[in-house]
Amino acid sequence: MPTTAAPHPIAETLLRRITDRSALVGIIGLGYVGLPLAHALHQGGMRTLGFDVDQSKIDALAKGKNYLKHFGESMAQELASSGRFSATTQFTRLAEPDVLIVCLPTPLGKHHEPDLSYVENCGRDIGRTLRPGQLIILESTTYPGTTGGEFADAIREGASGGPGASLRLGHDYFLAFSPEREDPGRKSHTTRTIPKLVGGVDPRSTEMACALYRHGVENVVPVRSAEIAEAAKLLENIFRAVNIAMVNELKIVLGAMGIDVWEVIEAASTKPFGFMPFYPGPGLGGHCIPIDPFYLTWKAKEVGRPTRFIELAGEINTQMPHYVVDRVVGALNQQGKAVKGSQALVLGLAYKPDIDDTRESPSFELIELLRHLGADVHYSDPFVLRTAPVRKHDLGMTSVELTPQNLASFDVVIISTNHSAFDYAAVAKHSRLIVDTRNAMKAFAADLGPRLVKA
Ligand SMILES: NC(=O)c1ccc[n+]([C@@H]2O[C@H](COP(=O)([O-])OP(=O)(O)OC[C@H]3O[C@@H](n4cnc5c(N)ncnc54)[C@H](O)[C@@H]3O)[C@@H](O)[C@H]2O)c1
Repeated sequence: MPTTAAPHPIAETLLRRITDRSALVGIIGLGYVGLPLAHALHQGGMRTLGFDVDQSKIDALAKGKNYLKHFGESMAQELASSGRFSATTQFTRLAEPDVLIVCLPTPLGKHHEPDLSYVENCGRDIGRTLRPGQLIILESTTYPGTTGGEFADAIREGASGGPGASLRLGHDYFLAFSPEREDPGRKSHTTRTIPKLVGGVDPRSTEMACALYRHGVENVVPVRSAEIAEAAKLLENIFRAVNIAMVNELKIVLGAMGIDVWEVIEAASTKPFGFMPFYPGPGLGGHCIPIDPFYLTWKAKEVGRPTRFIELAGEINTQMPHYVVDRVVGALNQQGKAVKGSQALVLGLAYKPDIDDTRESPSFELIELLRHLGADVHYSDPFVLRTAPVRKHDLGMTSVELTPQNLASFDVVIISTNHSAFDYAAVAKHSRLIVDTRNAMKAFAADLGPRLVKA
């Protein structure tokens, strides 16, 4: 547990302002992570000021409209009506908040290298207006050492030559890392109920960041350093990536033996200790699991150590859409049809059920692979009515309505995302052939017989 260093007037004033809720909190990046965080801190009585480059988000929030549907309209309405929240695109206002929390994307570059450009540019912006008594917290997922390294350097670089140049980290301003554990669509937890790890670059920073989060999160867990918090987030995501890869591999192996992996997982899950279920699918999706593990792989090269588990898991998971497409080809073949010229419908474009997030979704890969083989591919997703360009794909498609006539017109229906809004009874009744990657048709399996293929 960190111990607090000697008394210091700037730190004491900031800590008091945080504790008595007079501090203004700036949230930079109002996406899947930043928006619910702003809401949780706002609910805890803090004044919050959001920053985003996207004017349409700022306009929507001012009108109490939510652009992230799974959070519901009430979140944006509460923020807009309280008088304690506003949002802006003006980054010259970064000096106003006492606390700045950075919730910006940390994607991968073309060659799977970390792209810290959002975080570093933001650090420079913060540096330009840096003033004594600011606490800066990075939430974006990244490799260990970023907060005290690249991010702190960018803040210093931005401050150099300006009024903030003489300010000292740990004395005049403070810096911490706190990983986000948001899981969009999960109903069992909210930002408030998910325990929050906090690691500062020094004990004062940790103490102040913990005090802040206690206003919005029930259980705040201080750790000894920013690096531990950064690495813990990666461990959590690597744990998922590796276990999902393992069940994906088992799905293929057991499938070849005529054994249903879903039934095997259900059976193994009856063990009350030492086992937790992970489920196979058409590949990995989302901003985190397909991307974050490679931040560590890249950093590991610096210390000359391999990350074989991560790379093997990545290899297996990225092959899954190919496996699914092979199953589609085989299933059509069984019906005497070629994939070339066939009509295929992919159900679900979002990467997981009941949300509209399509980042890294394997559905895009499935569509591209099937198109490449000459199929005429369409998709249906009530959350994604038209496709927008994502990192590797720009499909320019619109969602097909799931009517009995539409279902019956396709040679094959491929279930990629098991949204609860889909009418699976209608899918069972009207589809000629179903390839199911999510075990969504479990209840209809007996009736469907050879019209259902698990993949
Ligand atoms: N989405 C999740 O479930 C999740 C979970 C855990 C951790 N994370 C991590 O949190 C971080 C943020 O992810 P996210 O899902 O919220 O991303 P996001 O894309 O939903 O949100 C980012 C926001 O930042 C805005 N933005 C982009 N450039 C900007 C700039 N230069 N200045 C200000 N705003 C800018 C975008 O308009 C967007 O609103 C990432 O590092 C991610 O790995 C995400």
